[in-house]
Amino acid sequence: MGVVTSRSALSRQHQVSAETGFHRCWYPIALARDLSAEVVLGRDVLGTRVVAYRDRQGRAVVQSAWCPHLGADLSLGCVADGHLRCPYHHWSFDTAGTCVRIPSGDKIPSAARIFTYPTAEAWGLLWAFNGEQADCDLPRIPGAEEATTCFEAGERGRRDWETWIAVSNGVDFQHLRTLHGLPAGVVPERIEVEGTGIEFRTGNDYYLQHGRISGTNTFAQHLRVGGNDMFMMFSGVPIGPGASMGYFVAGVPKEQADRLSGVRKMMDQLSEEDAPVLAGMRFRRGILTASDRHLAAYFKYVDGFPGFLPPQA
Ligand code: FES
Ligand SMILES: [Fe+2]
Repeated sequence: MGVVTSRSALSRQHQVSAETGFHRCWYPIALARDLSAEVVLGRDVLGTRVVAYRDRQGRAVVQSAWCPHLGADLSLGCVADGHLRCPYHHWSFDTAGTCVRIPSGDKIPSAARIFTYPTAEAWGLLWAFNGEQADCDLPRIPGAEEATTCFEAGERGRRDWETWIAVSNGVDFQHLRTLHGLPAGVVPERIEVEGTGIEFRTGNDYYLQHGRISGTNTFAQHLRVGGNDMFMMFSGVPIGPGASMGYFVAGVPKEQADRLSGVRKMMDQLSEEDAPVLAGMRFRRGILTASDRHLAAYFKYVDGFPGFLPPQA
């Protein structure tokens, strides 16, 4: 029998293997308002470290933080003349990740590159796609457009759980009543599982829920209760196996802006109620019953989700 290291055991348990990397999803990396052309942000995400900054045109750039020369942390560097400059020997990289300058004048090796993630800004968040090219849509909130929504984006900090396990909440209709104490809702007849998302609608005359899972790390929903619309997005990015950073977006139609703080409070409460359970779990796909059928479909969807490991991650 071979040696099972704690790392490989943990990786298997959390469906994260060193060979396949993290899921090919859009991940929130930072609040868009924290991004600037002057400061290079550093973030420990996806089992590695990335930098984030704005280029001369104001576009967001997310790249590997490890310098290919000796491995210095590029987030300790700066953006000079539109290029990311390493703090150690001042190698400089363009927004595509190519090394464009070595101050000593040495020939620039063709391998002197840093990985550059596809990026987007939406709902007040900076998103990076874990892959060379994005092959799925940005997470969206059903029924909501940024232009007509009054919204607030925020960070929840480090969470001691996997994002994909937290997202299973979105199709765990039993826990809404048992853990959150909400009135018995209407369980959708079916959930639509497509390649990189899951969507469902349920409700009655008084209550409507339109939910969407994007990738394996974002759950968003439009709730209409007694004629009042609420928009919520819960997202996260893995730091490594068993740990993640949480983000959220709360929203209401622009003409009802005074209700935003109420939606925010409701999201805070839901998150606080979920937190101790998620943090304390030893997750397993245990004994599922008929009421867990949507959860079972979600677990199958996660099993088939492709991964990606950036070069030199
Ligand atoms: S470690 Fe970055 S330039 Fe030397
Ligand atoms: Fe929950």
